This record gives sequence, structure tokens and C-alpha cells, in this order.
Amino acid sequence: MVLSDEATRFVRAAGPEHTEVQERMAALARERRFPNIGPDAGGVLRMVARLTGAETVFEFGSGFGYSASWFLRGGADRVVLTEFDEDELERGEEFLTEAGLADCCQFEHGDALAAVERYDGPFDVVLVDHQKERYEDAFHSVAPKVAEGGVVVADNIMYGPIDFHSLLAHMEGEPRAIDIDDEPSRGVACYLDAVRDDPAFETLVLPVGSGLAVSTKVEETGDRSDPVDT
Ligand SMILES: C[S@@+](CC[C@H](N)C(=O)[O-])C[C@H]1O[C@@H](n2cnc3c(N)ncnc32)[C@H](O)[C@@H]1O
Repeated sequence: MVLSDEATRFVRAAGPEHTEVQERMAALARERRFPNIGPDAGGVLRMVARLTGAETVFEFGSGFGYSASWFLRGGADRVVLTEFDEDELERGEEFLTEAGLADCCQFEHGDALAAVERYDGPFDVVLVDHQKERYEDAFHSVAPKVAEGGVVVADNIMYGPIDFHSLLAHMEGEPRAIDIDDEPSRGVACYLDAVRDDPAFETLVLPVGSGLAVSTKVEETGDRSDPVDT
């Protein structure tokens, strides 16, 4: 965890509670040691869906539907779930059926990067939560399909299968801070560089859960001049 223990406890104590079905999803995740996004980051997904009035959400890496359930709690009309583990996706369909939410879901078995090509968008919210070394590819493939005012959220920016301290050194400008063989950390670093360099998006990192990068699309093209400078 990236926050101090007490700050993490505070965020958890003041954060949202699970529904009954989400509690069973979380229990399965604990049993299988499956890395779902957790309730605090889930609360951010719910808020982003609510604030964007999300009609369509696209997920890269859905597991058994836990993150999708938070978008749906935030009022999203439709979530496209992608997952290359068929058993996980089927379990997700069962859970979301039990929650009465499956009619709002489209289940895509297979590679998320192939699935996104079958959709034109617009997407109001996107979750990037699959292989870290493919985060940047996911961003480039989906960015043109994100609605203006839409949001791309990426998980595991500060915690997970990445090396926090080498990523921190990279963000602070240290050259070659990340080991050449550390593909997940390099993947997250390349993702952060790409979203922060894209003038169509405004990005910040929230130290919630495993760390979220939240990027809002502020315009369709990349020729915005920053009003602060004019
Ligand atoms: C971190 S888990 C996702 C957790 C989920 N978003 C949640 O919070 O419940 C990552 C999932 O992405 C899946 N995955 C990884 N790469 C993928 C890809 N290229 N296409 C589809 N699924 C992928 C894995 O099988 C795994 O279930």
C-alpha cells in the first residue's frame, strides 16, 4: 500500500461499503488471491461514472466483474467487459446476473485490444487494468474513441506488479531508472508518459487503492493552448 497504514485505514473507514454481491466477489478474490481494484478505487470508478453521466464504459481486463459492478453502481448504462480467461468472465456474468445488472453488460471473451477494435465508441469512461506492458497500446487504441469530457482510469500506477521506487525515480526525471527486464514497471512508465504528453488529456494520479491515473479528455484534437499561458 502506498499511503501510510493510518491514511489507508482512514480512507477505508470513510469509504463506500460493498453490496451483498460485491462482498461475495471480494471474498472470491481473497480466496483466489485475485487482484481486483478494491472498494476505495471502486468508489472512484462509481464517482467517475456518476460525474460523466456515463452511457458506455469500456474495460481492458474485467476479471469477474468487480470493477464493472462499481461503474454500474455509479449509474453507467452499459459496460463492455473484456477478459481472456473464459472462466473468470463466466463467473462475472453469474455475479452480475445475481446483482440484476447483466442486461447492462456486454461480455467480450478474448484479447481486450482486439475487442476495442470492434467498437466505434464514444466511450464516456475507460478502465485500463490488464497487462501493464500493454497499457500504452490500450491508450493509443482507445483515445480517439473517448468522448470529450470522458475519462480514462488506469490501475496499478503505484502498487502491484511494479517497482514503486524505480517508477518514482523515473517520474522525477532520473534516466534509465527502470530495469530493462522489468516490463510491468516500464509499461506503467510508458503509459504515464503517453497520457501526460497527450495535450487532449489532463492527467492526475490518485493514491487510492493501488494508485489510479485519471485522465480527462478535454478536447478532440491536440492543438489546445493552455489558457494559463494566454
Ligand atoms: C487486475 S485484473 C482485473 C481486475 C478487474 N478490473 C477488477 O477490478 O475486478 C486483470 C485481468 O485482466 C485480464 N487480462 C490481462 N490481459 C488481458 C488482455 N489483453 N485482454 C483481456 N483480458 C486481459 C487477466 O486475465 C485478469 O483477469
